Amino acid sequence: MDTDKPFLNTNLGNFKRPSRTVFILIITVLTVTLLQISTKSVFPIWAILGKKFKIDGFTVSSEESLRSCSGFYNKGVMKRRRVMVMSIKDFGGVGDGKTSNTLAFRKAIQSLKRFGDKGGSQLNVPKGKWVTGSFNLTSNFTLFLEFGAVILGSQNSEEWPIIEPLPSYGRGRERLGGRHISLIHGDGLTDVVITGENGTIDGQGKMWWNLWWNRTLEHTRGHLVELMNSHNILISNLTFLNSPFWTIHPVYCSNVVIKEMTILAPLNAPNTDGIDPDSSTNVCIENCYIESGDDLVAVKSGWDQYGMKMARPSSNIIVRNVSGTTPTCSGVGIGSEMSGGIFNVLIEDLHIHNSAAGVRIKTDIGRGGYISNITIANITMDRVKIPIRFSRGSNDHPDEGWDLMALPSVKGIHISNIISKNTGKAPVLTGIKEAPFEGICMENITLFGLSPSAKWQCEFISGMTVGVSPLPCPQLNANNSSYPCKHS
Ligand SMILES: *[C@@H]1O[C@H](CO)[C@@H](O)[C@H](O)[C@H]1NC(C)=O
Ligand SMILES: *[C@@H]1O[C@H](CO)[C@@H](O)[C@H](O)[C@H]1NC(C)=O
Ligand SMILES: *[C@@H]1O[C@H](CO)[C@@H](O)[C@H](O)[C@H]1NC(C)=O
Ligand SMILES: *[C@@H]1O[C@H](CO)[C@@H](O)[C@H](O)[C@H]1NC(C)=O
Ligand SMILES: *[C@@H]1O[C@H](CO)[C@@H](O)[C@H](O)[C@H]1NC(C)=O
Ligand SMILES: *[C@@H]1O[C@H](CO)[C@@H](O)[C@H](O)[C@H]1NC(C)=O
Ligand SMILES: *[C@@H]1O[C@H](CO)[C@@H](O)[C@H](O)[C@H]1NC(C)=O
Ligand SMILES: *[C@@H]1O[C@H](CO)[C@@H](O)[C@H](O)[C@H]1NC(C)=O
Ligand SMILES: *[C@@H]1O[C@H](CO)[C@@H](O)[C@H](O)[C@H]1NC(C)=O
Ligand SMILES: *[C@@H]1O[C@H](CO)[C@@H](O)[C@H](O)[C@H]1NC(C)=O
Ligand SMILES: *[C@@H]1O[C@H](CO)[C@@H](O)[C@H](O)[C@H]1NC(C)=O
Repeated sequence: MDTDKPFLNTNLGNFKRPSRTVFILIITVLTVTLLQISTKSVFPIWAILGKKFKIDGFTVSSEESLRSCSGFYNKGVMKRRRVMVMSIKDFGGVGDGKTSNTLAFRKAIQSLKRFGDKGGSQLNVPKGKWVTGSFNLTSNFTLFLEFGAVILGSQNSEEWPIIEPLPSYGRGRERLGGRHISLIHGDGLTDVVITGENGTIDGQGKMWWNLWWNRTLEHTRGHLVELMNSHNILISNLTFLNSPFWTIHPVYCSNVVIKEMTILAPLNAPNTDGIDPDSSTNVCIENCYIESGDDLVAVKSGWDQYGMKMARPSSNIIVRNVSGTTPTCSGVGIGSEMSGGIFNVLIEDLHIHNSAAGVRIKTDIGRGGYISNITIANITMDRVKIPIRFSRGSNDHPDEGWDLMALPSVKGIHISNIISKNTGKAPVLTGIKEAPFEGICMENITLFGLSPSAKWQCEFISGMTVGVSPLPCPQLNANNSSYPCKHS
């Protein structure tokens, strides 16, 4: 099916009576494209479609052969050949690192939006430095950063306008009321691709971190990329730098693939999480390198009474082959906002170095919700302070309306095949007295570098272990055939 044909071959007969403008646009694009092809600078969009090859006589796609979850993004029957491809330059963009391109991006999207139901569109960002304030994406759309393209987040906070808080948080995460919109934003979209030839989106977040540090931040900081209520998203092959706040935030989304991404922020930059799937389902995160001042990946689902009321869980989340470092937080975190529930999470092939924690489960009284059926396997760690950590929050609630009786349920956490070198501490596993964590199962875990006196610290948890060294705490010594150490 994946023929190496450019979008030129797309059936233009799909158009019903194209307007004169549309016609002129098409001619422009065809001309531009032909020019690009002749200079070999055009990105072959069919190249991202996954090549097919033969193994033992069967034809498989490269993705299948690598045990990938990227099928969560559905390329669809059209195989994503966007009919209309334009450059930000066509909308007056100037890539000199100074000129504001906010209007150019907004105009571009406004114009390309019209192709949503006519075969989709693509906006190319060529080599250069493109300063912009926040802009919204549209459906059936690809934002494509060519080699050497750098989008720079505006240093004018007014170009990050305030939007409503998320209903599952009830307020901005950091400050009451609304929150700054993300640099690149989308709400209620289907089929959005943000990709390219390892181009860069740099949030230039320092201005925002300063506001946080010097306590003059008025509204919650914006994300680098946030997609809300959207379906079928692919973010790949780019470098994201210096997000003001969490870097990639899919919330109330389904079928999201984030792969082959490099995400970097200074190791002391506050709350610059890498990827935070939030109240979302069918999310695939793979082959990413992340360095940041907060969790590399954090799975969330809303905050206390607001998250409970909305009850939108995060489920079917796969995190695979992610590497990185975070000296203050964890490789992968579940929570602490988890009030809509989190279930069916698979985390494997993680490589975490020089970090505060490897895997961490965070919740608290007042959260309600649940965390269940979490599988964490095949993790290597080096110089990680606490390889496995379960903990309570620090009295972190949205407002006075939180419910003391809203206890989270944590059940069915399976952690296996972990090797940790130069380990700082044995696992610290603290559940909640009124709601102990159950069905914790640990298998084949070896923690090197601990002193002989190092002991696991466990409280309000139960479960079992097989092949774990150093010897686990008695709470995990259950020999209970009715609760075997199996995936639950
Ligand atoms: C996106 O494309 C699909 C299939 O081509 C179409 O069914 C859908 O209506 C389009 N969405 C929008 C918002 O135009
Ligand atoms: C982007 O979308 C948000 C809502 O999702 C809206 O508040 C904002 O005005 C939009 N911005 C632009 C430039 O259209
Ligand atoms: C990813 O970006 C690199 C440029 O760094 C490019 O050579 C490669 O073709 C891109 N990969 C895909 C799958 O588009
Ligand atoms: C993309 O660029 C980043 C930053 O320069 C680099 O670390 C990474 O290896 C590059 N990725 C690819 C696929 O070329
Ligand atoms: C706080 O940081 C902002 C942004 O860097 C700066 O404009 C402001 O002057 C700083 N305020 C104080 C009190 O340091
Ligand atoms: C794992 O991800 C890295 C990028 O961080 C990539 O270079 C490597 O090829 C991936 N490994 C597999 C098996 O896909
Ligand atoms: C638990 O989650 C895994 C994915 O991590 C899934 O394959 C499995 O079916 C789930 N188990 C149950 C009982 O739902
Ligand atoms: C972990 O690695 C083992 C051995 O390579 C493999 O069989 C297993 O599928 C991997 N993942 C999980 C979740 O166990
Ligand atoms: C135990 O885990 C290591 C990697 O951490 C792996 O190489 C080994 O195959 C695992 N053993 C079993 C019995 O799964
Ligand atoms: C668990 O029970 C089995 C069978 O009753 C017994 O052989 C085994 O020694 C017990 N293991 C521990 C750790 O108590
Ligand atoms: C075995 O585990 C089940 C499920 O956690 C629990 O209900 C039961 O009381 C346990 N039995 C023993 C003998 O510990």
